Amino acid sequence: MKILSLQLNNFRNYANAFVEFDDGLNVLCGKNASGKTNMLESVYLCSIFSSPRTSRDRELVRLGQETAQVRLVVQKLYRKHTISLQIDSQGKKKVAVDGIPVNRAGELLGVLGVVFFSPDELKLVKDAPQERRHFLDVGLSQQQKSYFIALQRYNKTLKQKNNLLREYRRSAHIDDMLDVWDDGLAREGAILVKKRTEYIATLNKAAGRFHGIMSAEAEELALSYETSVPLDGDIESALREALCAAREKDKELGYSTVGPHRDDIKIEINGKDSRKFASQGQQRTVALAMKLGEVVIYKNELGEPPVLLLDDVLSELDLERQRLLLKLTDGFQTVLTCTEYGLDVPAKVFEVQDGSVGEGKRKK
Ligand SMILES: Nc1ncnc2c1ncn2[C@@H]1O[C@H](COP(=O)(O)OP(=O)(O)OP(=O)(O)O)[C@@H](O)[C@H]1O
Ligand SMILES: [Mg+2]
Repeated sequence: MKILSLQLNNFRNYANAFVEFDDGLNVLCGKNASGKTNMLESVYLCSIFSSPRTSRDRELVRLGQETAQVRLVVQKLYRKHTISLQIDSQGKKKVAVDGIPVNRAGELLGVLGVVFFSPDELKLVKDAPQERRHFLDVGLSQQQKSYFIALQRYNKTLKQKNNLLREYRRSAHIDDMLDVWDDGLAREGAILVKKRTEYIATLNKAAGRFHGIMSAEAEELALSYETSVPLDGDIESALREALCAAREKDKELGYSTVGPHRDDIKIEINGKDSRKFASQGQQRTVALAMKLGEVVIYKNELGEPPVLLLDDVLSELDLERQRLLLKLTDGFQTVLTCTEYGLDVPAKVFEVQDGSVGEGKRKK
């Protein structure tokens, strides 16, 4: 799929901006703080509904203004859609697709597919498991609505169970209630574990290929899904047993200690755990390979590629790797930000300056 146009009104540092993107590589070029990441953020919002950088949505509205608007036209395989997003100064968001209001994030998912990479993404490799679960949840939710639904149910049940554990863990009747919540957690949790395990197995191949190319075949990447408790055989029954076995500990601690909300992705390079040992450069290569892998899986799963958003990736790579990376993005629409674009890879280049964006010039 490809974004045809993007219009911003009072979004972040943009008063008014309008861009028409090309099929292939698009480059947003400008000084620091000019508004490049802001523009990628607006695209991300039209896809995932939440910002990749803030949970305080009112920050998205241009200072001194009442409402921000984003209007994005996406061309898909067989259809064209217009996504209109509105954010008010209280941070309340409204979204419509082709003029029809969409009530939940779940209904927006799947209209525009994006994969976003920023220097922040290094935390995917080194930070707490939460980052890696988030990667799985965003990737899988975009590709499979059934995953998103199971995830929402799971999270809601988990919250209810944790509330109960916190408030009433010394009460005599708590076990009956916990049985109900654990039943739900085992049922929805099994869906999450199964889909995540399959996803990681596919990603292992796709990301492994990209990683091989980017490391000049010197390093081998291995990804696997790591559960907080061993889950052999039928996952749902195994999960139910694990929840039961952890019951007393959960009551003692006041929260739920086992389940997919505690799982992780194991990342190894040449047999060594990257979460502990990867160098800065290795983390970057792994994170990029995982994101590019996500693009390929999306395409195989849904029949067309998502839009790739690359924030500030070139500055960290040598020339050879910059060229290589852009070659790997061949075949899907990419929006890339940088402070200077001197590569000989054809692109449509937009100058971004202090919250305004130029017309875009094709560079051969
Ligand atoms: N709600 C807002 N109203 C007005 N200006 C804002 C708002 N939110 C952010 N900004 C401004 O937007 C600018 C940052 O834009 P952005 O992060 O897109 O920069 P960038 O071009 O990506 O820079 P860099 O190259 O450093 O990454 C800052 O100057 C910031 O003050
Ligand atoms: Mg930026």
